Amino acid sequence: MSHLVIAIDGPAASGKGTLSRKLADKLELPHLDTGLTYRAVAHQLLQNGQPLDNEAVAVEAARQVDLSSLDKDVLSDHAIGDAASKVAVMPGVRKALVELQRVFAAQSPGAVLDGRDIGTVVCPDADIKLFVTAYPRERARRRWNEMQLKGQDADFDAVLADIQHRDERDMGRSDSPLKPAEDAYLLDTSEMDIETAFRTALDIVDKSRTA
Ligand code: C5P
Repeated sequence: MSHLVIAIDGPAASGKGTLSRKLADKLELPHLDTGLTYRAVAHQLLQNGQPLDNEAVAVEAARQVDLSSLDKDVLSDHAIGDAASKVAVMPGVRKALVELQRVFAAQSPGAVLDGRDIGTVVCPDADIKLFVTAYPRERARRRWNEMQLKGQDADFDAVLADIQHRDERDMGRSDSPLKPAEDAYLLDTSEMDIETAFRTALDIVDKSRTA
């Protein structure tokens, strides 16, 4: 198989993570959830009691991120996600993490990466780009359901407000804002279950590869 890079972007709880993992499994490609790299920086700062608004300190933490030791269980914590979107506005942090992400994308036989700026900044030459989205209320409902399943107490309105804040921060920052690449396929999963979204994405991939 020739080198194949698939870039999947979208807002929080759009379903892009699950979709990316399923696509990577199906295509037998390594997968990187780039959100975990921003979360790892935030986690290190929080653990060390360091401020979230000091770029020099955050860049130092970003330089220590090791892709082979990203622990999703630890990093998926809600507070870490919020802190991650604060350090993600810093150009120095982005520069350090994008370098790592590009090395991952360059491996043979390719990779699936998901995040906010994969198709626009990290891998602008990706073979296939998907922008996965869903209405904020639907994304909040999914996140709320996940939290219920984990036995976490969650208020729906608070979850929705959090998703909206995160969208504003991710779309409004000046460095690498969340937006679809011009050549991305838009996949609105508001009315789709994960299987339907997966089949639709696979169809896009198959068509692009045979085009
Ligand atoms: O996707 P996830 O919720 O894990 O991402 C956490 C935060 O990391 C996002 O809200 C965003 O601010 C940041 N992020 C980013 N660029 C990426 C991936 C994540 O800015 N490629």
